[in-house]
Amino acid sequence: MVKKILKVTGIVLGIIVVLAAGFFLKAYISVESRRSTHYNVVTQPITINHDSATLALGARLVKAKGCTECHDNDLGGKIFVDDAALAHLIAPNLTKGKGGLAPDHNVEDWILALKHGIRRDEKPLLFMPSHEFTFLSEQDMGAIIAYCVNLPKVDREFPEGNTLGPLGYILTDMDKLPLFPAEMIDHNRKLVKEVKAEVSVEYGKYLSTSCQGCHRENMKGGEPVAPGFPVVADISSTGNAGKWSDEQFIETLRTGKTPEGKILKPEEMPWTMAKEFTDTELKALHLYLNSL
Ligand code: HEC
Ligand code: HEC
Repeated sequence: MVKKILKVTGIVLGIIVVLAAGFFLKAYISVESRRSTHYNVVTQPITINHDSATLALGARLVKAKGCTECHDNDLGGKIFVDDAALAHLIAPNLTKGKGGLAPDHNVEDWILALKHGIRRDEKPLLFMPSHEFTFLSEQDMGAIIAYCVNLPKVDREFPEGNTLGPLGYILTDMDKLPLFPAEMIDHNRKLVKEVKAEVSVEYGKYLSTSCQGCHRENMKGGEPVAPGFPVVADISSTGNAGKWSDEQFIETLRTGKTPEGKILKPEEMPWTMAKEFTDTELKALHLYLNSL
């Protein structure tokens, strides 16, 4: 009897192992094939000005759009995910120092990365949120590029390269991890020239692209963005922020402390990025969120 139970248990376990291996293999093959897809896109030329106002705008945008959160404060790159189960991902050195961009890396390559989520070898960039940056205006994207092509050299090398763990393959295959932003982008869409910086719903909507990845398109939040993260708050008119004054909204995003006394951790809710927004931008954002 005991022998029979053991035998049945053995068979059941065997089937589970085979199924799990099959499931993983399917995910592995599909993700690797997506990873090696070649994208052949024609980049839209954009005007790059190098005047001091443009460079100052670029310097602020690399913080406000989160570039420095992933690529480090000096944009010299850092390992930004290091989890054996999930992935080992490097946000590369964006300067032309050792370990950085190739000496002939040019403006077109920058547009390819920011607007299309594609590397100069035509393969998709992993996890680089280009599906958000693709909505930048020509003016803002131009300012970011103008600032970045002039970055002081930083020598920082990452010999290890990017790797995915088993959970990384499975979550990507289930579309639970935005590993390939290039797949989410309309590569033929033209950039808008400029969005007027004023307290308007339109400007607020434009800025809210930075919040969508976590708070969702309707800004009502929901499920945590990754295992181990908190539930994402509702920041539309029906959430707490709907009851706050503009001053309270601004204060929250500058200090990470809400009027209700909640402390927002920058690694979960990146207010260190949002604090770079101007008063006009935060008021426009609040106006837009309250319109939802
Ligand atoms: C969520 C983290 C994250 C943020 C935010 C982010 N990046 Fe990246 N970026 C990455 C990762 C990861 C890669 C490398 C992807 C790869 O190697 O497949 C990358 C790659 C790049 C590349 C391509 C470099 C090359 O090798 O061709 C450029 C250019 C770039 N990022 C610029 C920016 C700029 C500018 C911003 C802000 C507007 C930004 N990134 C924001 C994670 C990020
Ligand atoms: C990386 C994911 C992420 C991004 C990007 C993000 N948020 Fe959040 N946000 C969160 C999470 C998670 C919470 C809930 C934190 C908690 O409960 O501790 C939160 C909470 C908030 C709160 C507090 C709400 C309350 O009721 O207490 C506000 C306000 C807020 N976010 C505004 C924004 C705005 C504006 C943007 C865009 C500029 C933004 N967030 C971008 C993840 C994010």
